[in-house]
Amino acid sequence: MKFFIIALLLFFAHSSLAQNNEVKLLQNREARKGKTLDGLWQAIVDPLENGYYNHRYLPKDDGYFMNRKMESPSDLIEYDFDSDIELMVPGDWNTQEEKLYYYEGTVWYKKSFDFDSSTLENQSTYVYFEAVNYEAKVYLNGQYLGSHIGGFTPFQFDVTDILKEKDNFLVVKVDNKRKREAVPTVNTDWWNYGGITRSVHLINVPKQHIQDYAVRLSKDKKNTIEGWVELLSSTVTEEVTIKIPELKKSVKVKVSKEGKANFSFQATPERWSPNNPKLYRVEINTSTDRITDEIGFRTIATSGSTILLNDEPVFLKGISIHEESPFKTGRVTSVEECRILLQWAKELGCNFVRLAHYPHSEAMVREAEKMGFMVWSEIPVYWTILYDNIDTYANAEAQLTAMINRDRNRAAIVLWSIANETPVSDTRNVFLGKLAKKARELDNSRLITAALDTQSGSGDEKVINDPLGAVVDVIGVNNYCGWYVGAPSSCENIKWKNDYNKPMIMSEVGAGALQGNHGAPNERWTEEYQDEVYKYNIEMMKNIDFLSGTSPWILMDFRSARRHLKGIQKDFNRKGLISEQGVKKKAFYRLQEYYNTLK
Ligand code: GCU
Repeated sequence: MKFFIIALLLFFAHSSLAQNNEVKLLQNREARKGKTLDGLWQAIVDPLENGYYNHRYLPKDDGYFMNRKMESPSDLIEYDFDSDIELMVPGDWNTQEEKLYYYEGTVWYKKSFDFDSSTLENQSTYVYFEAVNYEAKVYLNGQYLGSHIGGFTPFQFDVTDILKEKDNFLVVKVDNKRKREAVPTVNTDWWNYGGITRSVHLINVPKQHIQDYAVRLSKDKKNTIEGWVELLSSTVTEEVTIKIPELKKSVKVKVSKEGKANFSFQATPERWSPNNPKLYRVEINTSTDRITDEIGFRTIATSGSTILLNDEPVFLKGISIHEESPFKTGRVTSVEECRILLQWAKELGCNFVRLAHYPHSEAMVREAEKMGFMVWSEIPVYWTILYDNIDTYANAEAQLTAMINRDRNRAAIVLWSIANETPVSDTRNVFLGKLAKKARELDNSRLITAALDTQSGSGDEKVINDPLGAVVDVIGVNNYCGWYVGAPSSCENIKWKNDYNKPMIMSEVGAGALQGNHGAPNERWTEEYQDEVYKYNIEMMKNIDFLSGTSPWILMDFRSARRHLKGIQKDFNRKGLISEQGVKKKAFYRLQEYYNTLK
């Protein structure tokens, strides 16, 4: 009996039923002090998950997360982090290790570090992951902290009472296996880069700290800045001060018993816009904590088929971007790479970027904001996910919530996208209707959109009548006339009909070309063919009077395991206007010329 009780206790100690240390995400992580855990981590490739399951496929109580060492010559330990491989964090494993190029499965990561808590009295310490693709199980000093599912959104755990002065070991089981019920599901047109793909931080905050906040221009009350602040472990007598020094504004409010304080005050800030990406330093203080952020103030709305930025009609001259690193390829891992991609978009003449098909890094969004790009931010509800699966919905909603919570104070984001090219069905309509409702509950200050898939109609007429059009504020349409359907010259005569009196964004249009491959305009894969497709689609777009923007597919060639054509694709989707080595194709200049005429 005693053995059984011990086994049961150990099982719960490591199973997902154990106490989960995951805590609500801190707003504005980068403003917090702490230390980075980026750099080389030790790693073990574990395709059979032998570090987690025993031979009866039950979770082990002494898995690799215990980071055990031989203590006597007769010890049997069949793993050793410190003599195995090393992987750089942040980074995907596929482009770091030749043998991991196509690998989909578990890799164990381990980081050892000392921790000086002498200056941290009355503080909490969190370990914050910016992103891990796809599922992470996290352990510190052998103790299970919790799990996270979703490859592109941050999560954090409270490690205050587990850290030691010396020899801490943080172990993460990362599993990027594609699963039918996952979000995204098993078929995507981008590489399934696995790993701790964004930075990891240890963050120190006062026990009572500013946990979350929203600061923005009211969309209903003229010249009013409004928002709220949420404190962790506050007292109802606690007061919060919100200051915007440049506007000479300072307000003090009391928190409610839930630890929340709402505020609003008259102000006439310069409006954030692509031509004037003005940001204001905002200071939020309590008796124990203070945080500053750089926040822009703007409004975004629609009127009929027009998008209004700060009450003025705006045309979104955009481009779609995957989180593929220029030159080295693989996942983007640095702000410098973000700047290269955004500089190319700037050269193209863009005021808008569609960050496809998942939330990009916070650094990318903040750089886009500073450089004056409006942003379309999207969750990977992509193609044929399981619309009738409640766990799939919960996963999608969790990723939507994390995306909005992380970036709600980024004025550059004007569109939350809940889906891409999802086949019309009753279950899909219900699924996406719930997601749109959730998005509006979380943030009713932005526009909701999705890239629709269907355009019915015959011959030269395209009719936008996807039921989702009734749900979104802005209709995204992916159109591949001249590439997947019809000859390039057929595109010019296409007429679009929109059943909804709403703005349309041509969220994808384009064609493939191998950079440097030249020939006649009717030769597939030549730069001339790609340019021809852009030429005729641009003529078509000029005739769509409810078109309010476009984000052609795509800025740069990106890796996809669906793209096999030897000599041309070589595991890359070639629809980029720029090759992955940074060389522009003819069509880049065609689109640039179109955007310049739209001044
Ligand atoms: C679709 C899809 C993209 C894909 C593109 C293509 O529109 O949204 O993710 O890469 O087509 O076929 O190149």
